[in-house]
Amino acid sequence: MTKRIKAFAPATIANLSCGFDVLGLAVQQPGDEVEVTLNDSGRVTIDAIFGDGGNLPLEATRNTSGVAIIEFLRATHHTTGASVVLHKNLPLGSGMGSSAASAVAAVVAINELLGRPLKKKELLPFVMEAERVACGSAHADNAAPCLLGGLILIRENNPLDIIEIPTPKDLVCVLVHPHVEVKTRDARAVLKPTIALKDGIKQWANTAALVAGMMKNDYDLIGRALVDVIAEPLRADLIPGFWQAKEAALKNGALGCGISGSGPTVFCLCHGRENAIRAGKAIQQVFLSLALASEIFVSEINREGAHITH
Ligand code: HSE
Repeated sequence: MTKRIKAFAPATIANLSCGFDVLGLAVQQPGDEVEVTLNDSGRVTIDAIFGDGGNLPLEATRNTSGVAIIEFLRATHHTTGASVVLHKNLPLGSGMGSSAASAVAAVVAINELLGRPLKKKELLPFVMEAERVACGSAHADNAAPCLLGGLILIRENNPLDIIEIPTPKDLVCVLVHPHVEVKTRDARAVLKPTIALKDGIKQWANTAALVAGMMKNDYDLIGRALVDVIAEPLRADLIPGFWQAKEAALKNGALGCGISGSGPTVFCLCHGRENAIRAGKAIQQVFLSLALASEIFVSEINREGAHITH
């Protein structure tokens, strides 16, 4: 019988405003699904990609799911071949951790197919290598929460030191994805290489406050801490209507609102589902007033991360 397994990996909100490059949070939906089948070809191939509009490369060495599997097989000394079918539900260049999700689902599936030689956490370096191929730099702020679930702090990248942070029970995430594409590379190019000391002080005060708010179940503190004085002011121009969308969200039930990862998706965190739905609709309304279509995803925090579906 052919050995075939399908895995799901969720969207993630990197940065969470103040935690630029060091915080990431997993949501329940949407997410990518990857089917992996073992074979005796000795090669890794991408057989099909659905949902990417033909935009992703089919060469395994240029596709994040292929790279993650190749790196995994090399590290675990397996010579098996594998074929991949990628169901791309996360929009590309959206700021929802799309490239990480495909790599995470792929590596979770191959690890399962081969009898789980590695623990979940040990799969992270393969995903980061895939991220490096896709974005030019290896960030764990999407990859780690996508794989492990919940809210993750990346204390150090090399050697990797990641910390899982508890989150309040009734915290609900909203993602509103306007139909414009922003490439991570371009969103990083608008940033400055240095920051003013006064901005650094504000940013690390808010990062610490956000972590404290999460651990103390203090929703108001979470809201006060969702402030980004470093990346958001420079990236806002890449998202039509961003400041109006943020204002509308804050007036309609959001604790805080910002850019998800490198954008253009706008996220907010809310206390309870009702507030989340209201805030999401308010953001969508602003985009609509600019003739910009968008999708809303309202979701509890995903505390499990990527998993096998069948
Ligand atoms: N922290 C990254 C950025 C997100 O904002 O550029 C992609 O990992």
